[in-house]
Amino acid sequence: FQTTQTEIYRPLYHFSPKNGWMNDPNGLIYIEGEYHLFFQHYPDSTVWGPMHWGHATSKDLIHWEEQPIALYPDSLGYIFSGSAVYDSSNSSGLGTSETPPIVAIFTYHDMEGERSGASDYQKQGIAYSLDKGKTWEKYEGNPVLPNQGVRDFRDPKVRKMTQADGTESWVMTLAAKDQVQFYRSLDLKNWSLLGEFGKGVGAHGGVWECPDLLSMKAPDGTDKWVLLVSINPGGPQKGSATQYFIGDFQDGQFVPDDTMIRWLDYGPDNYAGVTWSNLPEEQNRTLFIGWMSNWLYAQVVPTSSWRSSLTLPRILELVDINGTLLLKSKPASELINLRKETYSISKNESELPGIATEIQASVNSEDQFNITFYNELGEELAINKENGLVTIDRSKAGKGSFHEDFNAMHSAPMSWKAEEIRIFLDASSVELFVNEGELVLTSLVFPSSPWSRMKINFGLNDLVVYSLQD
Ligand code: FRU
Repeated sequence: FQTTQTEIYRPLYHFSPKNGWMNDPNGLIYIEGEYHLFFQHYPDSTVWGPMHWGHATSKDLIHWEEQPIALYPDSLGYIFSGSAVYDSSNSSGLGTSETPPIVAIFTYHDMEGERSGASDYQKQGIAYSLDKGKTWEKYEGNPVLPNQGVRDFRDPKVRKMTQADGTESWVMTLAAKDQVQFYRSLDLKNWSLLGEFGKGVGAHGGVWECPDLLSMKAPDGTDKWVLLVSINPGGPQKGSATQYFIGDFQDGQFVPDDTMIRWLDYGPDNYAGVTWSNLPEEQNRTLFIGWMSNWLYAQVVPTSSWRSSLTLPRILELVDINGTLLLKSKPASELINLRKETYSISKNESELPGIATEIQASVNSEDQFNITFYNELGEELAINKENGLVTIDRSKAGKGSFHEDFNAMHSAPMSWKAEEIRIFLDASSVELFVNEGELVLTSLVFPSSPWSRMKINFGLNDLVVYSLQD
């Protein structure tokens, strides 16, 4: 591919496709020491189009190697978002007991059907790999879950579950208009509806997409179920965002503990994120990655040969904040391996060591802070906590005229004390983690020239800056 001037926005340590368009992460699965990442991809253009599943692998969650495209559109339609599971007992019969298959479950989107006004243009299909995810065969009996009369019917996320009587089955969480449906299968091919969730609870400003059902422990040791649901539009910062519910899941019914609306990330640019399947038990973590963009302007951001990158990988954990359970997003521990040089900084103003930088600091007892990054052109990116609001202000941070909503300030309420912050800067993004992710804001930003200096206006101590490897 050609390197152009706008490659200045190519991330140095976030995944971006070599060429063309990307949106949601798909089929996240760990197989024998490798993290697999598939993604919504249109290799022939930098805007959304006929969807493929692109593919990348990593051994360390930091360095990604792009692989040949895994799934191409076919006569049933484009390949929309979905998941992948390791069918260790060959329940699907798509492999053998010696070579169990990896099975991808995705949505077929029939463009012709949509254009002609049909309501059944989205249905679920499967594909399998017998060589550890390298090459894929589509199942000849597709679709495995025909449309049930709902126009928006997509993004299957499948997990294995053990029923009360000990039998194992597959449970699919699927977005259906602005609700979620749960299906069960014994063989990944025949699915029956178990239950529905979403009427009267949660945010409904747009269609529900890319759900994920997670089993987690609360800090007091109780078992909880967490349901991630992306929504577009209707997010707290306009456009797309991911909400989540905490509750119980039994016999195909999800029952939330309360009716509070919770957002996974208060920044404008973390969407359609889901978690990895098949992690080895000893990892004992819920590993997440999101698409670092927003449907409001994703197709017009100022990059040229490629569009979009993913967030940093994050670990999701339940945390108790003054009696309320929330989901925190910690930067994956592997990210400390990105650190090259360490600079302890005692002055309020200093140079940044490079484009790929992490900043760590503790927040003083007043619980208010303000830190600003700027370049020689007078553009600035401000991050602060004041009066119980944590804000990333990109309104004067460079290019933004490509969309009326881009140059804005994004705030999140934080009624409890900020103890410390970590900020990750890359060529066109900033990720703020307060208290190891109790509050997170993820934001794209396109400075006309890289951030070169930073200034602490007040409130931060013990400042450490790391140059990150590129
Ligand atoms: C979310 C989404 C999914 C869909 C995919 C299409 O961003 O709209 O619901 O499967 O993107 O590319």
